[in-house]
Amino acid sequence: LAQLNVLAQSAGKLYFGTATDNPELTNTTYVAQLSNTLDFHQLTAANSMKWDATEPSRGTFTFSGGDAIVAQAQKNNQLIRGHNCVWHNQLPSWVTSGNFNNATLLSIVETHCSTLVSHYKGKIRDWDVINEPFNDDGTFRQSVFFTTTGTSYISTALRAARAADPQAKLYINDFNIEATGAKATAMVNLVKQLQAEGVPIDGIGLQSHFIVGEVPTTLQQSMQNFVNLGLEVAITELDIRMTLPETPALLAQQAKDYTTVIQACKNVQRCVGVTLWDWTDKFSWVPGTFAGQGGACPWDENFAKKPAYNGIVAGWSQ
Ligand code: G3I
Repeated sequence: LAQLNVLAQSAGKLYFGTATDNPELTNTTYVAQLSNTLDFHQLTAANSMKWDATEPSRGTFTFSGGDAIVAQAQKNNQLIRGHNCVWHNQLPSWVTSGNFNNATLLSIVETHCSTLVSHYKGKIRDWDVINEPFNDDGTFRQSVFFTTTGTSYISTALRAARAADPQAKLYINDFNIEATGAKATAMVNLVKQLQAEGVPIDGIGLQSHFIVGEVPTTLQQSMQNFVNLGLEVAITELDIRMTLPETPALLAQQAKDYTTVIQACKNVQRCVGVTLWDWTDKFSWVPGTFAGQGGACPWDENFAKKPAYNGIVAGWSQ
């Protein structure tokens, strides 16, 4: 069967999957395809496990949104990637404006990660424990976490997650590490430092928000560089956007680009799976963020397959 997860598993991968979000679960046509396990064997909550959703005020945890995504996945025996424990975005203001000192902020990070990961213990295969720690030049992002604790927040979060669910694979997830270069090298060096300190780390997530015609030629090499450190890798947020309107030429190039990404994962044995950052243009984050751009997903706004779908098929098959 030429369907995305069937082919991914035939290629030795654990899953092909997609992000989804709670408001989308009210659309029955959408949910029917989301539940099609021939295409999708893995779900990620695009928003509802983030800090603003799960600990909106200090020590008060709300898991209803994340629980609904987990329940949706479990109906179809789909794997779940947890997204995420610590990120500079979508933080509640009590974290960003709290002026906490080092020890207090580390304890806040530990409590957040520990409580979040514990809540989903045994239900989630992988956690993006740390999301987007770097600037594009490879320096550490000046988030409230880094400016207050240096890199200590990273080891604190990873240790808390390991203790909370020893079976979960712990990831650091970022964008613009898909090409070799300063940012990917910084990630390699961070992993080496964590390993030297005995901090648990199992995987690197390459978000892979690409632009048509601009998939990095060093994607496979960059994945291999992380694998060479003893880690697994995953393509965690794949989409390939274009300047609208869609044209036959752009759609054809997009299909080729999807093929290129899938083949890179196929060729790296410890690339465990690929996740779309939603499968339909109807619910893509792209037009809301990049004016005039979109069309990034393999299905269009009316849930019809685009050439990109067959591009993914070709990537797993060739
Ligand atoms: O929840 C509010 C809703 O109450 C309000 O009516 C509405 C009006 O704008 O906004 C809603 O919040 C939006 C939220 O998504 C939930 O839909 C935010 O404005 C919007 O900014 C937010 O965007 C999310 C974005 O992360 C935030 O940075 C996207 O859905 C989500 O797909 C995106 O995902 C990120 C990954 O986590 C990390 N990597 C990049 C990726 C794409 O930006």
